Amino acid sequence: MKKAVLISFLVLITMNLKAQTQQEIDIQKKITQLISELTIEEKVALCSGRDDWSTMPIERLDIPWIWLADGPHGLRRAPATNKPGYGDQLPATCFPTASALAATWDVDLVYKVGQALGDEAQAQGVSVLLGPGVNIKRSVLGGRNFEYFSEDPILSGEMGAAYINGVQSQGVGTSLKHFTANNVETMRMFNNSNVDSRTLHEIYLTPFEIAVKKAQPWTVMACYNRVQGEYGTQSSFLLTDILKKDWGFKGIVVSDWFAVIDRVAAMKAGMHLEMPKVSPVNNAVAVEAIKNGALDIAVVDALVKEILTVVFKAKALQKEGVELNVEKDHAFARKVASEAATLLKNENEILPISKDKYKKVAIIGEFAIAPRYQGNGSSQVKPTKLDNVLEIIKNEYGEGIEITYAQGYNLADDNDTSLISEAKKVASEADVVLVFTGLPLQYESEGIDRTHIHMPLSHNKLIDEIGTLQKNTVVVLTNGSAVTMPWIQNVSGVLETWLGGQAGAGGIADVLFGKVNPSGKLAETFPMRLEDTPAFFNFPGEQGDVLYGERIFVGYRYYDEQKIEPLFPFGYGLSYTSFEYSDLKVSSKNTTDKEGLTVSVTIKNTGKVTGKEIVQLYVSDTKSTLQRPKKELKKFAKIELAPGEEKEVSFKLEGRDFSYFDAKRNLWIAESGEYVISAATSSRAIKLSETINLQSTQQVPLMFDEYTFFLEYWNNKQTRKILLEYMPNWIRGIVTEGDEAEIREYQGFMVEHPLIKYPYITHGEITHQQVKELVEKCKGLTYTP
Ligand code: BGC
Repeated sequence: MKKAVLISFLVLITMNLKAQTQQEIDIQKKITQLISELTIEEKVALCSGRDDWSTMPIERLDIPWIWLADGPHGLRRAPATNKPGYGDQLPATCFPTASALAATWDVDLVYKVGQALGDEAQAQGVSVLLGPGVNIKRSVLGGRNFEYFSEDPILSGEMGAAYINGVQSQGVGTSLKHFTANNVETMRMFNNSNVDSRTLHEIYLTPFEIAVKKAQPWTVMACYNRVQGEYGTQSSFLLTDILKKDWGFKGIVVSDWFAVIDRVAAMKAGMHLEMPKVSPVNNAVAVEAIKNGALDIAVVDALVKEILTVVFKAKALQKEGVELNVEKDHAFARKVASEAATLLKNENEILPISKDKYKKVAIIGEFAIAPRYQGNGSSQVKPTKLDNVLEIIKNEYGEGIEITYAQGYNLADDNDTSLISEAKKVASEADVVLVFTGLPLQYESEGIDRTHIHMPLSHNKLIDEIGTLQKNTVVVLTNGSAVTMPWIQNVSGVLETWLGGQAGAGGIADVLFGKVNPSGKLAETFPMRLEDTPAFFNFPGEQGDVLYGERIFVGYRYYDEQKIEPLFPFGYGLSYTSFEYSDLKVSSKNTTDKEGLTVSVTIKNTGKVTGKEIVQLYVSDTKSTLQRPKKELKKFAKIELAPGEEKEVSFKLEGRDFSYFDAKRNLWIAESGEYVISAATSSRAIKLSETINLQSTQQVPLMFDEYTFFLEYWNNKQTRKILLEYMPNWIRGIVTEGDEAEIREYQGFMVEHPLIKYPYITHGEITHQQVKELVEKCKGLTYTP
C-alpha cells in the first residue's frame, strides 16, 4: 500500500473507532446513571429471566426486555415469552443440524446459514439465538452429537465462529453453548466432567476460545455439568479467569435453563443471567446476601452493567418490518443439505444415477416419505415446509425413468421385519435401488445418551437382504451421528446425509442424480464397533463422575495412536471427480514460533466434473517432552475446481499451531524441534508432507523444586552448576571426571529420586538446609523449551 493511501486509511479507521467509542461512551454513561437509580431488588431481578424466554424489563426506568430463543439450526420461538415453546411455536426454516454443517467444512457457507438465521430472528423479534453448540463429540454415544459439530476442536471452533459472525452480522446475538466439557446427557444436571487441565485446554476449551476470539458472541451459555468438580455456572475459573481475562470475552454469561444451583456463588463467579425465571427464591437469596455483606454490590453492579450493555445493543439493532422469506430460506437450506451430503462408498461409480443406465429406480424405506430431518429436544424447529425425497425425485428427476416405492420397515416398530419381503420384490424388479434408512427420532435426543451405535434391526436386515439380491444398491443414511454398517460389503453405494433440515430431501436428490457433486467429509470418525471408541470405558461415567480417561486422545487422535482401523476415518468423503495434490511448499525449513510458517499446496481436479475438495493440514510433533497425538488438524480449506483446473491453497501456521498446553506452567508451549506438516484428503490419507525445524523463542519458567528429580537438575546447564555448588563432594562420587562430566552408569539409580530424598539417601551427607537453599536459588530460572 502506498504511504499516502495507508495514512488516509488509518485516519479513517481512527475516526470510525472514535465514532464507535463515543456511541459506546454515551450508552455506558446512561447505564452508569441507571445503576445509580436501581434498587438492590431491581438489580438482582435484572440478573434473572422475566419468564421462560425474556430478560427482565424495569418499566419505571425505561429498561426494555429482549427475547432469547433456541437454536441452533432454526428458531424455536414460542407464541409468547412465558410459554414453553414446544409444539405451539412459530414456524421457521429448519436448516441442517450442526453435524451436517460441519460435514460441509465450509466456513463461508456456515456464515451464510448464520445470516439467514439472524434474518429470521429479526423477523420474529428475537434478539439472542441460543446457539451454536461447540462441545466436542467425545463419545459416539453422546445424545446431543447431532447438535454439535465435530470431534476436533479446530473444526468445531471455526464452524462456531462462522455461525456466530453470520448471525451477529444481522444485529442478532448468539449464545455459544454449553460452556464447557458438556459431552454426556446421562445425569446431565449433575455429572462431573473429570478432565485433566491439559486435556481441558487442548480439546474442550479450544473450540470456545476460537469462537470467542474470532466472533465475540453476545452471550455464552454456562453448562449444566460440573467441570473439575465445580458447576459450570459457579466456576470463576471458567467464567472469569478463562473467558473474560484470558480470552477477552466482552458479552454476558447466561445459564443453561435451570442450571443455577447457588445463585450467589454463580454471581460471584461471573454468571450474569440466570435463565429462565426460576422462582423468587434465588432472587431473595441474592438480595439477602447483598444486604448482609456476603455478596458485594459492586459485583452485582458489574454484572448489571454488562447485561444492560447487551440489552441496549440488541434494542438498537432490532429491525422493524423484516419478513420471513420462506421460499428463499428453504431453497438455501436445500443447498446447504446438498453440500453436507457425504459420499462414503461408490463402487463402480454407481452414483450419480445415470438415466441412460438405469430406467427403473426403486425407492425403499419409510424415511423417503416421512423424513427424519432434525434431532430431539430443545433444538426442535417447527418447519415452514417439509419436503420428502420420493416426491422430489418423482417431480424433479422422474422424467424418463420408472419409480417404484416400498415402505421396507415400520418406523413405529424397530423390530418389525414383515415389510422386507415386499421391498425385496420391488428391489428385484428395479435396475437400481435406493434404500433410505438411518436412526429414528427417538434414537438421538437431548437428555438421553445412546446405549449402542446400531441402526434399528429392521433397517439393517432390510439393507442386508436387498443388497444380497440386488448388486445396484445404494444406502442413503439419515442420522445425526455415527452408526455401524454391518452390511457395508453387500452394497455398492453409501451416502451419509445427516439430519438435513426441512429441505434435506431436495439436497439428497440433487446429489443422487448428479446435479450437485458431493463434497462433504466426515467431521467425526465412524468406528467399526463401539468397543473401538476412545471413551468406551468411561462413558457415561459412574456415580456422577465422568473420568476423561482417554485424555487428549479424542476422535482420530485415539484411532491413530491405537492403530485402530475405523469404518470411515475423520475427514473422509468421496466425490464424483478426483483430485491430485502436488507441490507442497513451506515458507522456510527453519522457523520460530513467532514467525510461524506459510504452507501451500496445489490441488488439481483430474476428473470429468466440477467438484469441491476439502484440503486438511495436519501438524505432527515428531519428538516431544509430553505425549502428543500422532497428528492434529490445524487448518482446512474447501475449494471448487472445474475439470482440469488447479489451484494453490495456502495456510498460515502460527506458534499456537505447534503448541501443547503445559498444565504445570499454565502455558501453551511450542517446543523447539522437528515437525511434520502434512496435506491430507482425510486423517488417514496423507498426500504430501514436509519436515521443518522450529526454534522456540519462548522463555518459560523452569519451576524446579524439592520434588524435581536429581537427573532433571543435572540435565539442565543452569541447575547443574547450582547442584555442583551445593553438593560437590557427593556428586564427585557418582560422576566421571572432566568438564562434560556424566553420571557413571552404575550410579544411575542414585539420581532417579526427587531432591527432597537426598538427605536420607546420602545418610545426612547432604542436609535439608542445603536442599532448601539450592531450591531457593533455582527459583525464577527460565528456559527455552
Ligand atoms: C438446553 C439448551 C437450550 C435451553 C433452552 C436446555 O435444556 O440444554 O441447549 O438452549 O434448554 O431451551
